[in-house]
Amino acid sequence: MQILNNISLKPYNTFGIDVAAKQFVSVASIEELITIYSTNKDLDKFILGGGSNMLLTKPIDALVIHLNLKGKTILSKTEHQVLIECQAGENWHEFVQWALSQDFGGLENLSLIPGNVGTSPIQNIGAYGVELKDNFHSCNALNLDTLKIETFTNKDCKFGYRNSIFKQEAKGKYIITSVVFSLSTKNHTLHTNYGAITSELENMQIKQPTIQDVSKAVIAIRESKLPNPKEIGNSGSFFKNPVISKSQFKVLQQNFPEAPHYIVSDDQIKVPAGWLIETAGFKGKTFGNYGVHKKQALVLVNYDDAKGEDILKLSKLIQNTIYRIFNISIEAEVNIF
Ligand code: EPU
Repeated sequence: MQILNNISLKPYNTFGIDVAAKQFVSVASIEELITIYSTNKDLDKFILGGGSNMLLTKPIDALVIHLNLKGKTILSKTEHQVLIECQAGENWHEFVQWALSQDFGGLENLSLIPGNVGTSPIQNIGAYGVELKDNFHSCNALNLDTLKIETFTNKDCKFGYRNSIFKQEAKGKYIITSVVFSLSTKNHTLHTNYGAITSELENMQIKQPTIQDVSKAVIAIRESKLPNPKEIGNSGSFFKNPVISKSQFKVLQQNFPEAPHYIVSDDQIKVPAGWLIETAGFKGKTFGNYGVHKKQALVLVNYDDAKGEDILKLSKLIQNTIYRIFNISIEAEVNIF
């Protein structure tokens, strides 16, 4: 384990922003992580997982700790259920594909989400009708005050839409070191209600899909809409879908009767930010080397060496324009540094 100076973070963030870290270290075990914390008490620290949900707008004047904890262990297996502990530094999609290769069900709708296993609980990743919390058993996290590992159950994590305790009161206080998943071993429950999955399975001419088929359908849908970060820098959805009150939605509907929406509760309605951004005219717009993706307006993209601060400015322009046109505030989903 070696602390390096002045390292470019470009390979470590899926937006592909080229900013330097003052210091950088990659840790491969919990012991190494604890050593770094106990021997560098006076240094500011910055935790880096898969780098898939962040926009870097300036050099990081801190010791960047790259979490490279690897491995997965089957903790228990019964006739119907398996508990698997996966270390934080494992790539999310590779873990999902490994689970599918063992015929363990539950994560197939979450195929191809970028990032690492350790950061998946922080924003309760979700796609196509499934969220991480649906198959999350618990996670282990290093308490940065006591340098002891603590366990958080599903309930402890207070999961919500792209939200958890790790974005709220536990923010900055813990590092998730591993996640335990509860997956099915047979009689898998399939989640194919999400419109695009049904039509993709029809396209594939599959009438009785397996969990592996659902994963293939999800991969096909994502590849058709979302840019591959290895080709075009991006961080997935840049904004969260706003939740507004019923009365606010009625006003929106008077001006935009076609507005898509999902009912969240008796008084709450979710409106797709992608639709708001597209209607405001931003979809596919480029500003030199960055812009708004042409197939999914919720995704901001770095075409070639864009600066994080320019992408941040674009995101603010979008937020202000949406507010002016629709009187709706949209919030960034990615973390901005
Ligand atoms: N829409 C548009 N224009 C666009 C994009 C979307 O009009 O450019 C409208 C369409 O009416 C569409 C609706 O928005 O029917 C919903 O679009 P989509 O199914 O693509 O989902 P989304 O709400 O835009 C969310 C997640 C995605 C996730 C998909 C599928 C958030 C912030 N984003 O996007 O998550 O993959 O659902 O479940 O909740 C991510 O978090 O990085 C991410 C990609």
